[in-house]
Parts: sequence; C-alpha cells; structure tokens
Amino acid sequence: MELSNSLIQDIKNASHICVLTGAGISAESGVATFRGKEGLWSKFKPQELANMDAFMANPRLVWEWYQYRRDILTKVKPNAGHLALAHWEALAHHFVLVTQNVDGLHREAGSRKIIELHGNIRINRCNSCGFESSMDDISFAGSVPTCSCGGMLRPGVVWFGEMLPEGVFEAAYRAAQTCDLFLSVGTSAVVYPAASLPELALERGVPVIEINTEETPLSGSVTHHLRELAGTALPKLLEVFESGHSH
Ligand code: OAD
Repeated sequence: MELSNSLIQDIKNASHICVLTGAGISAESGVATFRGKEGLWSKFKPQELANMDAFMANPRLVWEWYQYRRDILTKVKPNAGHLALAHWEALAHHFVLVTQNVDGLHREAGSRKIIELHGNIRINRCNSCGFESSMDDISFAGSVPTCSCGGMLRPGVVWFGEMLPEGVFEAAYRAAQTCDLFLSVGTSAVVYPAASLPELALERGVPVIEINTEETPLSGSVTHHLRELAGTALPKLLEVFESGHSH
C-alpha cells in the first residue's frame, strides 16, 4: 500500500511517539486474538475463565486455560511488527509502547519501555498476599499451585471487572497526553480504558495512525487508517521515520 504524503510528513515531524498495541500484533506470530471468527472469545467464555468469580468457583479450569495459552507462547517468536517497534524505540528519543497484550513478545523483541496495561501471563501472583513470581518457578501438574503463605496462585493478568495495576494507566495516559504521534496497532479498540488513549490523542489534535486488517470503532475518526498486517505496515513506517531522522 502506498503511503500518503501527509502520513509521511506526520511521521517525519514526530518527536514524541506513543504506540498502543493489541492482540492483532501477535497474530502473525501465531497467537490467537480475542474477537472475530477465530478469536478466543468465540470458543471460550470469558465469564467462565477470566474473572475472579470464575477462579474462585473453578480455579483448576482457569489454570488449565492459562497453561494452555502459556504452552503456546513457549513455541512462538516475535514477528516483524514487534521487531520494528523495538527498533523504533531504539532510534527515537521519546517512545512509549503501551500494550494490552500479556504475551511478553514485545520484550522478547527488544522493546524496553513497555507499559503492560493488562499484566503479563508469565507472572504468577498470590491471591492472598500478592507476592509475584515468574511462571518458571512453578509447575502446574493439574493441581492449583500455591504460594508459601498458603494462598492460591493466579496468573498475573487483569481479569474482567478488575482494576488495572496501580500507576500503569496513569503512565499510559501521560504518554498519550504528551505525544505528537499516536499509533493504534492490532486492537479492536473496544476495551476501556485502553481505547480511550487514541481518543485522547485525537482530542489533542495529534495525528493518529491506525494499523488494522479490519475496520474498528476508531477507524472513522483516525487521521490515517492502514488496512494492513502490522508486520507489513510497521517496518514501512519505521523506514519513513529513519529516513527523516538520520543524522
Ligand atoms: P481483539 O482480539 O479484540 O482485536 C484484535 C484486532 O487485531 C482486531 O481488530 C483485528 O482486526 C486486528 N488484527 C488481527 N490480525 C492483525 C494483523 N496481523 N495486523 C493488524 N491487525 C490485526 O484484541 P485486543 O484489542 O487486544 O483483555 O483486545 C483487548 C482486550 O480484550 C485484551 O487485552 C483482552 C481482551 O479481553 C483482557 O484480557 C483484560
């Protein structure tokens, strides 16, 4: 797809970049998204798997589901989209990556300044004392793992009905409030408060680029909508940034 002159100019003019990513950026790595025909929420019910009541009612079922997703993650690798964002961060002076993903692929790709809005699936947190450990420290052999305090461990992700981790949304909000270019990549833009970040940038008159293979509720109001795979579009945008910021 040909990039418009105004899109090229907006990228070249940018000095403070904020990027919001969603499950779509990991799709090309082989990680399922949530919505859509093939999405996780078409096969599994969030009300049975991704909230505290479900966990208290059937912790083993919830653990099995998260172990299934973790097992997939041991076999996948970051793709060209993740790598382009990591490279972009290394080139730019001010670059903040906000992700709704819990898969850890941005870090694996080399991104460093990452705000994980919905936690990380590789972390376990004690449901009683809040102690956090990495997934490598426990084994799940069909029974629910426990903390040394005796409490049940749970995955360190945000479930429906839960608050985002303390300070995390505030940091993302600050990035959206101070950026001069905003990218919304591979997200259906329906889950709040994440979806309010591009809205905030638009309200401030900042150019917003959306990269998505489909239309979203945001598509009608963004400055540039690229209906493309993230792994195809992001390297192209990075190239434009590089050409405008080489010394
Ligand atoms: P969704 O599954 O809702 O949306 C994924 C989006 O990515 C869709 O709009 C697709 O069209 C798009 N897409 C798919 N493949 C793509 C590709 N290769 N390149 C570009 N776009 C692509 O995922 P999220 O928006 O991340 O929350 O969902 C938000 C939250 O809802 C998740 O963090 C999760 C879920 O319930 C929690 O678990 C708290």
